[in-house]
Amino acid sequence: MGERRPTAVLISGRGSNLQALIEGTARPVSSARIVLVLSDQEAPGLAHARAAGIEAATVDRQAFERREAFERVLDRRLRDAGAELICLAGFMRILSPHFVDRWRDRILNIHPSLLPAFPGLDTHRRALDAGVRIHGCTVHLVRAEVDCGPIIVQGAVPVLPDDTPDVLAARVLEVEHRIYPYALDLLAAGRVRVEGDRAVIDSPPGSLDPMLNPPPVC
Ligand code: GRF
Repeated sequence: MGERRPTAVLISGRGSNLQALIEGTARPVSSARIVLVLSDQEAPGLAHARAAGIEAATVDRQAFERREAFERVLDRRLRDAGAELICLAGFMRILSPHFVDRWRDRILNIHPSLLPAFPGLDTHRRALDAGVRIHGCTVHLVRAEVDCGPIIVQGAVPVLPDDTPDVLAARVLEVEHRIYPYALDLLAAGRVRVEGDRAVIDSPPGSLDPMLNPPPVC
């Protein structure tokens, strides 16, 4: 196996997806390693990084008047740490087109719905209000438009009659924790090719893995 791709994770909150990425990249077969975790505000999730011995810091968005200045510092920290890939994991800031362009096809985001359904916030309540039977989560490459971009992996869950937004969120979150490390690994291993608006996953002939979302747990 080649070098593991140095990866940074950006968070704003509790960091359960960060923890899943830490555990996923700790596996010997992983193609990525986490070199830096940054938050835009004091975030409980930073503790997960520190507990794993990963450099973690806050770049306080409030300390900057303009987004560009904030992003310049982010960019510098990411480059200083040698990051080649970025995972947004509950990062609550919208990145500028300039930043997204600079890191084009190297930023992943996880979103708690089956995109393109329910972009934006409050996805679980909206899914319940819409009466969908299947809900889920998506890992995609980031584009300047919010919650858009080539889809790498999706995970589906059933919507059950007595679900509340919190119950549904918990069911989806479990799947988020499975698909995010998987999607990062695909990108880090160079198995994701972007063709127009779509991501194509390179797989050995006969393999079904791009079709199994999420892949079976062995
Ligand atoms: C997750 O539901 C993720 O899909 C969304 O923000 C939430 C972050 O949760 N983008 P956590 O901080 O990873 O626990």
